[in-house]
Amino acid sequence: MTSPSPADAARQRMPLPLLQGQKALVTGASSGIGRATAVELGQAGADVVVNYVAGREAAEDVVREIESFGVRAYAHEADVSREDQVVAMFARMVEEFGTVDVLVANAGLQRDAAAAEMTLDQWNKVLDVNLTGQFLCAREAVREFDRRGVVPEVSRAAGKIICMSSVHQIIPWSGHLNYAASKGGVLMLMQTLAQECAPRGIRVNAVAPGAIRTPINTSAWDTPEAEAELLKLIPYRRVGDPPDIATAVTLLASDLMDYVVGTTLYVDGGMTLFPGFATGG
Ligand code: BGC
Repeated sequence: MTSPSPADAARQRMPLPLLQGQKALVTGASSGIGRATAVELGQAGADVVVNYVAGREAAEDVVREIESFGVRAYAHEADVSREDQVVAMFARMVEEFGTVDVLVANAGLQRDAAAAEMTLDQWNKVLDVNLTGQFLCAREAVREFDRRGVVPEVSRAAGKIICMSSVHQIIPWSGHLNYAASKGGVLMLMQTLAQECAPRGIRVNAVAPGAIRTPINTSAWDTPEAEAELLKLIPYRRVGDPPDIATAVTLLASDLMDYVVGTTLYVDGGMTLFPGFATGG
């Protein structure tokens, strides 16, 4: 056994179960950022629904890990871009857990191609999952938050939505037109939803990861050469790990961040700081 890193040790020392008694849904939670987030929300005391679209085994693993913290969890298969499946997923959550306090709209994918080569299917798939999927899940969450209202013993807010965005909500990205457009859309979805729903006690925010070691971008870091190229884009000179994002989400979902509304928290090692200008311009 290696000893825990200082960050892991700090996480284990997190004072209170920040989300004690809350019910959280994480979409795309069977791998990568979604997985780490679902686990950390469970560690923070929430009961968690682990949404996945394929790979029941992996999702069940996540469930077991979450249950080891003494909270409840179950896996739910649903394609977030399908309205009927999203509606059914929220209905089941309300039936099993009684309500929804936290939505982490995380499910996302890439279908990369140069603009001139991009098919309509590639475009639609990315927009359907990354943007429409967030809309559908957010709509169902807001409906439930409005139905229940604030329960002060649980949280100061009627509900919290954390949209998983990307540095590419503001950094243009050649070869990834569909993805960058979807994340640019997430920025406005998040801000407009936050503006519209804040008066009802609903907090909507986003986390925008930079380069995080997950299956979505393996080729960007899995050889020393690729990693060296990638690090040129990261002033902090470290590729992120899923727990870096999970902790940001957990804090944003908690009442410690109760006055944070409509904000994007960039968790990117400085990728959005125009690193090319460090030596030029
Ligand atoms: C993308 C990754 C990429 C990162 C930084 C993310 O949103 O999904 O593939 O490595 O942005 O460019």
